[in-house]
Amino acid sequence: MKRNIINVRLSANENFYGCSPNVFKAINSQTENISLYPNAPLKLKEVLANKYNISANKLIIGAGSVRIIENLILTFVKDDEEVLIFDNSFVAYKQLCSFHNKKCVMAKLDNGRCDPKKLLPLINKKTKLIFIANPNNPTGTIISHNELESFLSEISPEIIVAIDEAYSEYVFDDNFPDSIKLQEKYKNLIILHSLSKIYGIAGIRVGFGIADEKNIVKMSSKMLPFTLNTIAEAAAIASIEDDNFIENSREKNRINLKYLYENFVKLGLNIFPSQANFIYLWFDSEKEKDCFYNVLAQNNIIICDMKVFGQPNAVRITIGDNKVSRKIICLIKYEFIRNLKS
Ligand SMILES: Cc1ncc(COP(=O)(O)O)c(C=O)c1O
Repeated sequence: MKRNIINVRLSANENFYGCSPNVFKAINSQTENISLYPNAPLKLKEVLANKYNISANKLIIGAGSVRIIENLILTFVKDDEEVLIFDNSFVAYKQLCSFHNKKCVMAKLDNGRCDPKKLLPLINKKTKLIFIANPNNPTGTIISHNELESFLSEISPEIIVAIDEAYSEYVFDDNFPDSIKLQEKYKNLIILHSLSKIYGIAGIRVGFGIADEKNIVKMSSKMLPFTLNTIAEAAAIASIEDDNFIENSREKNRINLKYLYENFVKLGLNIFPSQANFIYLWFDSEKEKDCFYNVLAQNNIIICDMKVFGQPNAVRITIGDNKVSRKIICLIKYEFIRNLKS
């Protein structure tokens, strides 16, 4: 009999547990409207405004947060101006700058962290936009409230700082920034969120930004009409409103992240302390990394080989459930480490 081999996909930082079952009901409830153009996403804005206790005028919605990242580049950076990012951070910042012919200046991470102090010497008159992923993808590390605030207090209010919180719902460190509070004080701060991670609707494409009302007006003028479709708005509302599903995903992630982290440390592997739904490991050589990757791939566990992002010695693993986490540690302990020693 032919056996179906199903790959466990741990390569793209999606929610391992899928999405809230309410999302399917919400999608079904909208099928009768699909021949009509979508309305402006006012309902979704209202839900988000209530959730964050802000005015709906401080929100912009996009088909995924990458669309808002692109929008920021188009809105705030002229041809001869510069965008400042970290060199081992979310790859879309650099890709979208290059797509739109904007110069990208890169700061080095500090021990896997987007330490904003590293940005200061690189700021000049041409710097118009800064991206900081918090937690950072791929390292999973965070910067604290105080670090972000002291950076904001030191730079010109003319420079837009986009703090990308795509993974913030997973964070359990109390020092994580209260970015909504900071945004009230620093009008140049723009917060980005994604519904592709803990909310589990990556395939539907929804993201949003929170910014000063004047900046939202500027950004909206560069947004394509009908950017959010009817099904996506309904799915987004259902996923945001299911607190149980979110809390459950967050807690399971916390437990399995801790389990993997502690075991990888015990096994002597190089790893950053992540606060997200993935972890980053690096090896002494590409050969060692390939061996680690292959041990998992041969057992149908597909992780992200960071070679595609120019880091041939590193991998990023999305956190799965108990069963898959235990399987990973077993395979690494008994196959990878044994291969290394032999
Ligand atoms: C830091 C970060 N920001 C944004 C995104 C993009 O999210 P979306 O699917 O909402 O475009 C990702 C996706 O991997 C990410 O890692």
